[in-house]
Amino acid sequence: MKKLSLIIFLGGLMFVAGKSFGLLSHNVVKADTNAVVYTSSNDPADATYPKGAKIYKEKCAACHQLTGMGVVGAFPPLKGSDYLKANKKKALIRVLNGSNHEITVNGANYSIPMPYQVDNHEDAVAVVNYVLNAWGNDYGTVTLEEAKDVKIVR
Ligand code: HEC
Repeated sequence: MKKLSLIIFLGGLMFVAGKSFGLLSHNVVKADTNAVVYTSSNDPADATYPKGAKIYKEKCAACHQLTGMGVVGAFPPLKGSDYLKANKKKALIRVLNGSNHEITVNGANYSIPMPYQVDNHEDAVAVVNYVLNAWGNDYGTVTLEEAKDVKIVR
């Protein structure tokens, strides 16, 4: 009788251990299959748009994060953003004059206002071209002429 309960106990122990090991290894696999997370050290856009990358890290990363993934419900993602892809000109307006419209990005709503970030058209073009091409984005570029259409309002 004693032997039998020991066997049952050991069997149970092995089952629990196996399960938690399975769960652990499952989590690791899940993390590995997430999309590539770019950091400044491996993102080609940092070399192509060095000025924009610098401005991004100084001014934008606090909210939109170094990964460009933002914070869901508060600060929208720029990486893979359907909104950014469709509204390049609005990105120029946003960084020059800020924005307080509620917008929907990749299906989530964002209503916190974004304060203006840069003081001149050159910086606006640099940082917008960076975010259009960082983290694997392939959203094209904006020109200084387009930026100059935006009147800076203070
Ligand atoms: C204080 C936080 C904050 C900072 C700093 C900030 N943003 Fe934003 N940004 C927001 C919020 C909140 C929104 C969404 C609401 C809105 O646009 O009115 C937004 C929206 C955007 C959008 C459009 C939505 C999208 O996800 O495509 C772009 C593009 C953008 N920001 C770019 C930038 C860039 C570039 C910088 C730096 C030059 C920057 N932001 C700095 C908070 C911030």
